Amino acid sequence: MITTAPDTTRVAALTTGLDRLRRSLHTADDGVPRHLDEPSWEPGFVAEFPQAGVDSLRMAEFDYTTAELHGRAGLCDDLAMAGPVALLTARGAQALRTICRELKPWAVHNDQVVSHRLRNVEAVSPFVRAMVRDPAFLRNASRLVGVPLIPHPLRNAGVQINYYDPPADGAAPAAVKWHLDGMNHVFTMTLSDHAEHTGGGYVYYRGHPRDFDIHREKTTAMGSSHPKVHTAPLQHVGDTVFTRGSRVYHAVTPVSRGDRITLAVSLFCPLLGAQDENRFWHSAPDDGLLRTLGNWRRLRRAVRRPATYCRREGIPIIPLGHPAGPGIAPPK
Ligand SMILES: [Fe+2]
Repeated sequence: MITTAPDTTRVAALTTGLDRLRRSLHTADDGVPRHLDEPSWEPGFVAEFPQAGVDSLRMAEFDYTTAELHGRAGLCDDLAMAGPVALLTARGAQALRTICRELKPWAVHNDQVVSHRLRNVEAVSPFVRAMVRDPAFLRNASRLVGVPLIPHPLRNAGVQINYYDPPADGAAPAAVKWHLDGMNHVFTMTLSDHAEHTGGGYVYYRGHPRDFDIHREKTTAMGSSHPKVHTAPLQHVGDTVFTRGSRVYHAVTPVSRGDRITLAVSLFCPLLGAQDENRFWHSAPDDGLLRTLGNWRRLRRAVRRPATYCRREGIPIIPLGHPAGPGIAPPK
């Protein structure tokens, strides 16, 4: 006799869906003052490119097949990881560190990533807004990855500050769980020196997510002693790694001493907009339904008419046919 097992997967999915809807029914009001006293952005804060000593890994080294890669004819988008690289000069990174430290009181606890986090940094810091729109900054990021990149239209998730501290009550510090991001192109910039904290290593799984999911329990338990788990080279203020966040499993080890701050800058390739991997219900619980709807309208505009979108947003125009080359022109 054939018996039908309860469809627990479907029940779980429905529960998650209802929970996400419930958590989305708030108006995003971060309460961050809009006129913080901060240093001004200077074009001279952009580091010189190219740089020596930048290691890179392609998607094939994470067991991805050619058919799974992002990209299109004439535009291969297959960089998996790269770093360490400096997107800012030492002076620029120090200015950014000061700003991010001052924004810490407004960061909110996030139980998904076990840290405090401030989203939509572009909206509260003119410095950061100018940085991610600086033609040289975007040109260097684009050259590193090999595709043209602009600030991500999902602005709340686009630039975030992550703060990591040991628990104040003396409890055992928690790790940031293993996860994939919604974003394809993520630049993680450390704004702490490694001597300022114990733990807080950015670890990643050098293999396919399918493989990770099969061996999740063992891999998570072994952590950095697992042969496929590696630590990204973030050592000094300003050190940056690129990660294909949506395709490379990553986590952060517990911080047991000191504090650690990172700025996560997600960029967007307007020529491959339809391949963006964000999902509406991933960000709605964080940002509220109304703001998420606005962000998604912006994303649709960027996908459908990238040149018009860039012009309206004051983002440097990337001429078609010259991806990632020196041809990113300043805004008119
Ligand atoms: Fe992440």
